[in-house]
Amino acid sequence: MNIKELRQERLRWMGWKNIAPLREALKSLEEGSWDVELDDAVTVKGKAPANIEETARLMMPWRKGPFKLFDTYIDSEWRSNVKYNLLRKYFNLKDKRVADIGCNNGYYLFRMLKDKPKSLVGFDPSPLFKTQFDFINHFVKSDIVYELLGVEHLEFYEEKFDTIFCLGVLYHRSDPVGMLKSLYKGLDKEGEVFLDTFYIEGDDEMCLYPESTYSKIPNIYFVPTVKALRNWCLRAGFSSFEVLESSKTESSEQRKTSWIEGESLENFLDENDSSRTVEGYPAPARVYVKLIKGKR
Ligand SMILES: C[S@@+](CC[C@H](N)C(=O)[O-])C[C@H]1O[C@@H](n2cnc3c(N)ncnc32)[C@H](O)[C@@H]1O
Repeated sequence: MNIKELRQERLRWMGWKNIAPLREALKSLEEGSWDVELDDAVTVKGKAPANIEETARLMMPWRKGPFKLFDTYIDSEWRSNVKYNLLRKYFNLKDKRVADIGCNNGYYLFRMLKDKPKSLVGFDPSPLFKTQFDFINHFVKSDIVYELLGVEHLEFYEEKFDTIFCLGVLYHRSDPVGMLKSLYKGLDKEGEVFLDTFYIEGDDEMCLYPESTYSKIPNIYFVPTVKALRNWCLRAGFSSFEVLESSKTESSEQRKTSWIEGESLENFLDENDSSRTVEGYPAPARVYVKLIKGKR
């Protein structure tokens, strides 16, 4: 696979009729220099250019965040600081080559700048989320590289990584073991992966495979027990599988805000029993794991 050609081809996605007006809005942003704080909200301070709120609203829905651009607080559907802070104590990115696969608008990548990694690369094949990234990065002015590529391209990428994050992607893949093998191939010799996925309780090596939707999300394939997940990871080649954390998704982390259209968690759960989804499956819970490629 020729990544250079693919990159060129995907740049043309920016001309799609729902994306082109957003790219035009980006071009008309004033230049300047601003102060940046990389805390729970990625915050930009200083003299505010015109039309910040209008431009940000054009780029809805904002799933991940929050961001504070001058007086505009982008209160995204997900308080992504919850996941980031939960994982924070498990990694040190100083001087590492880092990739975030399924990086969405780059919220975690912006936060990772604080660690001073050698490089930061985001992979996500969404022109809308890349446009949100470019909007925020207009102010942050980082050297994060955002690739409009998917996890399936990682093994063909020009460089290998020391640390790969792949959060909230595995359950979207119809071939989860194939995806884990792609992550494995994207790592350098002793590299590590931080991954999270929905899981179900149980001592058996089993998976839930929803008939159509899970928690009203249409493209969810396999939801494993932790033991089944471990088997996938070891059979994909990883030498170590460590469970770091697990948590139920709460409305303090995912909820409807004015920065998304449509529904959020409260509409996805059974209104009489919040331990079940509307489809009758166990409510979403996530397990966070660390995988190591080879000997340490
Ligand atoms: C549920 S979101 C997770 C976002 C973020 N990683 C997090 O944990 O909050 C899934 C993300 O995967 C992206 N995605 C879709 N197809 C993908 C692919 N083939 N490879 C990598 N990411 C993909 C979506 O655009 C979306 O941003």
